Amino acid sequence: MNLGFDGRRAVIVGGSYGIGEATAAILLREGAQVIIASRSRDNLEAARTRLEAATGRAPEIFVADVVKDAGSAAALMEEVRTRWSALDLLVSAVGGSVRADFDTLSDEDWLASYEFNVLSTVRSVRAALPLLAAGDAPAVVTLGAAAAKMPYAHQIMTNVHKAGLLGLVKTLALELGEKGIRINAVGPGRTRTPLWINRATKMAAERGVPVEEIFAEFAEEIPLRRFAEPNEIAVMVAWLASPLASYITGQSINVDGGIARGLV
Ligand SMILES: NC(=O)c1ccc[n+]([C@@H]2O[C@H](COP(=O)([O-])OP(=O)(O)OC[C@H]3O[C@@H](n4cnc5c(N)ncnc54)[C@H](OP(=O)(O)O)[C@@H]3O)[C@@H](O)[C@H]2O)c1
Repeated sequence: MNLGFDGRRAVIVGGSYGIGEATAAILLREGAQVIIASRSRDNLEAARTRLEAATGRAPEIFVADVVKDAGSAAALMEEVRTRWSALDLLVSAVGGSVRADFDTLSDEDWLASYEFNVLSTVRSVRAALPLLAAGDAPAVVTLGAAAAKMPYAHQIMTNVHKAGLLGLVKTLALELGEKGIRINAVGPGRTRTPLWINRATKMAAERGVPVEEIFAEFAEEIPLRRFAEPNEIAVMVAWLASPLASYITGQSINVDGGIARGLV
């Protein structure tokens, strides 16, 4: 299927591994020009090498910490302005969860989770808006979580902040629609990215069991009985960012193997 990405200008914040890198691979294969951004130059260079080997095309890279450095999203978009003068697609893949009980969490923990899961997208979208307004069929996709629609116990901060992110998406869709800018969220379920691989490896070490035992345990409550591969989430991110989804905005679509039990 032709997703209509040929020549389109895309930035993926959080593109050095995981779902962001998998999205970059699809966009590059489909002919888009891509900048991937993250905190670590080493990670970005490694991703560029992998992506070039996998797709035959290399992304540009840009070092930006959109959580710790409030100005870095603006610096990234200044680079986009110089290079392309407009932006068609923005993907925000920064975020993650902490497994912890409510009574162990401090104000600092809550603020850090808010910055990681909500403010990261706020900053990226805010800095990109003038460039998106000048873009061709502009679209934003951010990464929510299945937990935004079906909260899990023991990860309260993600439940709260990913639900807040959906409020952000819906409100921005209302405010940006008249400029022709679409914004949507994809809600992954459990996905085999470094986020989960690191968590499962730590749990396996604590319990003295093989890491695959941890993955099997957490797959039990997923109707499809397995974790997603990053590409299975990225195809929805790419499709929502594409002109094929031209009448979809303000939505959050779960790609979760059926784990979220609610009707909406
Ligand atoms: N994996 C899952 O099971 C799952 C489930 C539900 C929701 N999600 C959501 O999906 C999104 C992507 O998850 P993932 O599993 O792909 O995560 P991941 O494997 O941890 O990858 C995160 C990406 O973001 C970058 N990053 C982290 N902090 C950053 C910062 N402050 N500034 C810029 N870049 C930063 C990382 O690169 P550097 O280290 O190089 O900075 C990396 O490229 C997140 O929003 C997550 O909450 C994932």
